[in-house]
Amino acid sequence: MKTNQSKLIKKRSEIEKLRKASTISSALHSLAMSQTVIGKSETDLATYLNKQRECTKASGWAYPTIIGSAGRSTILHAKPTKKILNENELVLVDMGVKYEGYCSDITRTWPAGKKFSKEQKVIYQIVLNTQKECIKRVKPGVSLYDLDDFCRKDLLDQLRSKGIVKSKNIDRYFTHKTSHWIGQDVHDKCPYQYLDKSPVILSPNMCFTIEPGLYFKESKSKYEGIGIRIEDVIRVTEEGGETLSQVPKEIDEIEAIRAIKI
Ligand code: GLY
Ligand code: MN
Ligand code: MN
Repeated sequence: MKTNQSKLIKKRSEIEKLRKASTISSALHSLAMSQTVIGKSETDLATYLNKQRECTKASGWAYPTIIGSAGRSTILHAKPTKKILNENELVLVDMGVKYEGYCSDITRTWPAGKKFSKEQKVIYQIVLNTQKECIKRVKPGVSLYDLDDFCRKDLLDQLRSKGIVKSKNIDRYFTHKTSHWIGQDVHDKCPYQYLDKSPVILSPNMCFTIEPGLYFKESKSKYEGIGIRIEDVIRVTEEGGETLSQVPKEIDEIEAIRAIKI
């Protein structure tokens, strides 16, 4: 039984706008990542991004920019504060613009200083492995529920095999879903199920996010205070998935950018 797919499957003109929104947002993320931020505050970084966004063709933000440093990286929708960024802290930036009515939604997490700590690196690599595996699994015929199931299992398997958690439930560490539709709204108002409650099956030109995360809020371990999310915008193609957002996400790429003194 079908449901209204008109908003789910984007037209070519809509995809071009989504692509441009992601291109502009990606450039802003790369700029953020290349800034010297030690001694500056989360709001200083947000102010810088507001100024840079005004130099683009974006009409505004798709949603209020999220910036969470250190333990605040574990807060799902951290509003930037006057908190000063220090060496050895993580900065989680979730930011996307609106371009001609279409949204982007990208998250990157990077060290305030030049390098990730040993513990930050371990968690980051787990999230990155899972995010890349999820993207590889995108193709017509699978559902967002399939991707979410895989994502949760893959995060948990990696955490357990490294002895980081003993729990058999990932929900405490991954507190949101893997994906949401994106379009004119950042969380596009499209159905996730058909009228008979079966999951919507991916078809070419559906667009959504893939955004695994791990958040160690009060873990009483050496990982406490680490929050990592990696989020990209994906378009379903005939054979797989195209990532519309392009921001460095490998550890060595990020550390190379962080090492540049501006
Ligand atoms: N920016 C909010 C979200 O990732 O869904
Ligand atoms: Mn999102
Ligand atoms: Mn986001």
